[in-house]
Amino acid sequence: MPITAELRTLWQMARGAGDGGSHAERLERFYRPQAGHYDSFRERLLHGRRELVELLDPPEGAVVIELGAGTGRNAEHFGARLLDFSHVELVDLCPALLEQARRRWAQQPRVRIIEADAVTYRPLQPADCVYFSYSLTMIPEWRAALANALAMLKPGGLLGVVDFDLPRGDCIADRCACEFWRRWFAHDGVHLDRAHVDTLRQVTQTQLLRESTAALPWLPGLRMPYYLYLGRKPLNGNTDR
Ligand SMILES: C[S@@+](CC[C@H](N)C(=O)[O-])C[C@H]1O[C@@H](n2cnc3c(N)ncnc32)[C@H](O)[C@@H]1O
Repeated sequence: MPITAELRTLWQMARGAGDGGSHAERLERFYRPQAGHYDSFRERLLHGRRELVELLDPPEGAVVIELGAGTGRNAEHFGARLLDFSHVELVDLCPALLEQARRRWAQQPRVRIIEADAVTYRPLQPADCVYFSYSLTMIPEWRAALANALAMLKPGGLLGVVDFDLPRGDCIADRCACEFWRRWFAHDGVHLDRAHVDTLRQVTQTQLLRESTAALPWLPGLRMPYYLYLGRKPLNGNTDR
């Protein structure tokens, strides 16, 4: 990534998402100036995305949906498997990032780019697999987005999430780290909340929970917790809440 683009992205992150306007307007204001360089910077910031997509393993003919899909980079990790799916829907609220996704997937009719809110969007067909990659923490109404994801899944369908987490210990160092990361990320519209993992475990049948830490660009020595989660929608449970 050229240094000027790197600095522009850092400047945008330092300025933050701002307060005014609707959620969609804040996303557009934040991402528009960095959309062209989003992927190269996030490759070093958003860990576990390839791993999540590889673990999803949707069946042949599957309907697959990513909520908060941004530039559509993650779906590339399906590789040739994508050709076995019915289709993949990439849903996002930010036109600047969706322009990148449309460019990326212009030659692949199996991938549909959809401008919509993850809280209210409903596909025409029930999904076999729905996933969030670093978007749950950016959706203010994340509980409603989760409920919506479960509502669009077939019974037994797979929900996948990879996202930032917070230190889980209760010592003073962990509590200070929690406060630091909460404030740091909130500036860019990312709201860290331990309740995400707890809620995922309550509303799905847990298949996998992997918690880890990773380095962050430009912050040597600091490591950020993140988690990877896979859960099944219960076969007979009513998850619309
Ligand atoms: C950190 S980015 C992650 C993008 C992509 N999933 C990735 O892994 O690179 C968070 C994404 O969530 C999207 N987003 C935030 N709130 C949303 C909402 N209510 N509905 C749909 N997308 C939303 C943002 O526009 C942004 O593309």
